[in-house]
Amino acid sequence: MDNPFAENEHRLLHPPSTALVIFGATGDLTQRKLIPALYNLSHDGYLPSSFAVIGASRTPLTDDDFRDRCKESIASFSRRDIDPKVWERFSRNIYYQPLDGTKKEGFVALRERLESLGKERGEDLNYLYYLATSPRFFADISTRLGEQGLVADPHRELRRTALIIEKPFGHDLESARVLNETLNETFHENQIFRIDHYLGKETVQNILVFRFANGIFEPLWSREYIDHIQISVCESIGVGTRASYFDSSGIVRDIVQNHLLQILSLLCIEPPLSLHDADSIRDEKVKVLRSLKRFTDKKIEKNVIRAQYTRGYVDGKAVPGYLEEEGVASGSQTPSYVAMKFEIDNWRFAGVPIYVRVGKRLPKRITEISLHFKKAPRSIFQSSAQQRGSAPADNMLTIQVQPDEGISLCVNAKPPGPLLQTKPVMMDFLYDDSFATASPEAYERLLLDAMRGDATLFTRNDEIEEAWSLLDPILKSWEAQSGGPLTTYEAGTWGPAEASTLLNERKHRWRRL
Ligand code: BG6
Repeated sequence: MDNPFAENEHRLLHPPSTALVIFGATGDLTQRKLIPALYNLSHDGYLPSSFAVIGASRTPLTDDDFRDRCKESIASFSRRDIDPKVWERFSRNIYYQPLDGTKKEGFVALRERLESLGKERGEDLNYLYYLATSPRFFADISTRLGEQGLVADPHRELRRTALIIEKPFGHDLESARVLNETLNETFHENQIFRIDHYLGKETVQNILVFRFANGIFEPLWSREYIDHIQISVCESIGVGTRASYFDSSGIVRDIVQNHLLQILSLLCIEPPLSLHDADSIRDEKVKVLRSLKRFTDKKIEKNVIRAQYTRGYVDGKAVPGYLEEEGVASGSQTPSYVAMKFEIDNWRFAGVPIYVRVGKRLPKRITEISLHFKKAPRSIFQSSAQQRGSAPADNMLTIQVQPDEGISLCVNAKPPGPLLQTKPVMMDFLYDDSFATASPEAYERLLLDAMRGDATLFTRNDEIEEAWSLLDPILKSWEAQSGGPLTTYEAGTWGPAEASTLLNERKHRWRRL
């Protein structure tokens, strides 16, 4: 390549030769997310020129059986229809290895398979292991990989090996530490890529670009100008087929400990030193997590509202209550909704409350961040507007993560006409309008980054531990039957009435979504 820019872009976009082994290959995550994401990467020409994906699980399948399954999952879940030419190219690199994660034999066969793939292609492949299994197999699989010499020493070998794991990263601080110690027996911390798929969402990444590539917002991003912040992660779905997993986790472990705190920390970080090393951003995120005020018993009662949905209507359809869902223990106290008030104890954000609400079976699926700015110190429009009943609205910046990805700023403007009145108007940036291309799925970006060895969008262990140490007191207090009662809300409504008490002190209100 003669053009150095093109060469650089090629290097950034095209990872080195890789064999990706997916454990849990017949499971939901592989079929719904991973295979469609790999297909789309192949479609866009982003996969390494030498690439292989090896599905591994207990079900006895041949390479061809697995290829057929992959084709079905792409047909059902990919954002694109199957293009026969792309499928032809992609499917040639799909293999399957039957293997029981707790037994040695399958791993011997896996090693032989990987070695022969390397020989066939005449090059050393990097090994990337994706554990799309239940976390109870993590320890066994990583130990067996180590025993077979399938994990390269990053200080001595050129071949890169990495392990990708999915949440839950433990159940509390203690179990998260144990999990990490176990993985560290085989893998170095910088070889472990912990996926939080929210970090792969375009709008979440755009928080960084928006904040640090535009000089005009950063000065406003502080207690001087921001009155309060709201973050809402709302889902209309219930617990569905995952009831037994969810019932033992609850909404705090399922969403707050990971997705919500990741959004919050990116929103509140200081400018990182650089975007070129993964740790600059992650160091700043940890600082935010450390600055969050801890929850004492009194605060849990006052600042954390938990609730469970009862039967109701979502999208006009009757849906069961949480306790009626199949797989939920009778009399379960697991919350499907939580509203919380966070406070950051640092110079930038001291005194700016961050209200969050997260729940299932709400009226619609929407994830939104809103920054509510302080009022103008003295409004010259106030008295005349009051006479006509329209005081200027508060300025507000909203970042919609999904489903309508975009950023809007609410400002006051004068409507045409003889009177000097004010009216709130929105200045909108919508992804769909500004970029003529569809956003990739979060897993596409994350798989590509893992193949490139870029851990920026993956969660580091100290972030996980900080998040648990913040939330453990809440979970423990609920387990001890204290910390405020579990209330209820009707499915299809915006949560329990009690959630608004969080905001009363400062006369704030939840934003209408
Ligand atoms: C998962 C949670 O991590 O995120 C699910 O376990 C939740 O309960 C899902 O439904 C939400 O993801 P998304 O991308 O649909 O917002």
